[in-house]
Amino acid sequence: MPSAENGTKSPIRVAITGAAGNIGYALLWRIASGDCFGDKQPLILQLLEIPPGMQRLDGVIMELRDSAFPLVHDIIGTDDPEVAFNDADAIFLVGSRPRTKDMDRADLVAANGPIFVGQGKAIDASASPNVKVITVGNPCNTNALIACANAPTIPNKQFTAMTRLDQNRAVGQIAEQVGVPASEVSDVFIWGNHSNTMYPDPRFGKVNNKPVTDLLDSNWLQGKFLDTVATRGKAIIVARGASSAASAASAAVDHMRDWWQGSDGRIVSMALPSEGWYDVPEGLVFSFPCRCENGEIIVVEDLAIDEFAQKKINENVQALIEEREAVSELL
Ligand code: NAD
Ligand code: LMR
Repeated sequence: MPSAENGTKSPIRVAITGAAGNIGYALLWRIASGDCFGDKQPLILQLLEIPPGMQRLDGVIMELRDSAFPLVHDIIGTDDPEVAFNDADAIFLVGSRPRTKDMDRADLVAANGPIFVGQGKAIDASASPNVKVITVGNPCNTNALIACANAPTIPNKQFTAMTRLDQNRAVGQIAEQVGVPASEVSDVFIWGNHSNTMYPDPRFGKVNNKPVTDLLDSNWLQGKFLDTVATRGKAIIVARGASSAASAASAAVDHMRDWWQGSDGRIVSMALPSEGWYDVPEGLVFSFPCRCENGEIIVVEDLAIDEFAQKKINENVQALIEEREAVSELL
C-alpha cells in the first residue's frame, strides 16, 4: 500500500465507471467515507462517464465536494477511459446498461460487451500494474472475461466479477429464515455465474457455529432458497422499476474491502478467471469460495462436492461457455 515518508499513507487512485449512474451514486459515498479502503487511506477519485452522462457527473462531483470528505484528496471527472484509469490502484467497472424486466442478464452482452473491450485496453495502457478490478456491469462474469482478454499485460487474477451481492442475498435469506441477524451467518457462498444458474451453497454455512444444514430443511435450501437468491435481481426490477443499486454498491464495497484489507478468515464469493479449480475450464470467470489475505485472492480448494453441487457447477460451466462463445470476437 503506498505510504508517504512522514508515516501517513499517500493517496491511492480509485476509478469508477458509470459514476453518474444509480450504483455510482450509492458507491461513491461509501468509498469516500472510508468504508472500502479504510478510514486512514486517502483517495483520489477518478470518475468515468460517457459524454451524455457528463452533465450528471458534474452534479455528482459538486455533491461529493459538498460532502467535504477528509479522505478525498482530489476528484477527476472525465469521458476518457485512459484518464480515468491512469495509475489506478482499484477499478470498479460499473458503467453499462441495466436490463429491463423482460430480459435475462445475458441478453445485455450485445449492448455491454463492447464497452469492456475498450476499457480493458485502456486499463492495460494506463492503470497501475498491480490494479485490482471488480466488474459489476452485466453480464459481469463475461464482461470481466472481455476486459481481462483485452489487457494482456495485467495478470488475469487481477480481474474479478461481483457475486458478493448474491452471497449477501443468500445470507439475508438464511438469517431471516432462522430469525437471527445477518452477522451470525457465515461461510455461505456462490458458485458460477451471476445469472439464474448460480449455486448459492449452504453446505458449509454456519449460524453461530451451528451448520445451516442442521437448522434448515434441505428441500427449502435446494428449492425456495436457491430460487429466491438466483432470481432476486429480477424481483427487484419488477418491484422497484429499476435494478438493484444500493445493495449492489454495498456488495461492491464488501468485495473490494475484503480483497484490499483481507477477509479475516471468512469464505467470500468472488468470480475470477479459473485456473482449473474444481475442474472448471481455465479462463472462465467463475465464482468460487475464496479467502483474501495480503491483497491476494486464494480459492478454497478442498471443499467436498456432492452430486447436487456438481450438477449446479456443470450448469454454470455450460452457461459461461455459451456466453464466451457469443463474445468470441471481443476476446
Ligand atoms: P445506470 O443506468 O443507473 O447507470 C449506468 C451509468 O453508466 C450511466 O450513468 C451511463 O451513462 C454510464 N455508462 C454507460 N456506458 C458507459 C461507458 N462505456 N463508460 C462509462 N460509463 C458508461 O445503471 P446502474 O443501475 O448503475 O447499473 C449498472 C450496471 O450494473 C448494469 O449493467 C447492471 O445490470 C449492473 N448490476 C450488476 C450487479 C451485480 O450483482 N453484478 C448488481 C446490480 C447491477
Ligand atoms: C442484480 O442481481 O440485482 C443485478 O444483476 C441486476 C439484474 O439485472 O438482475
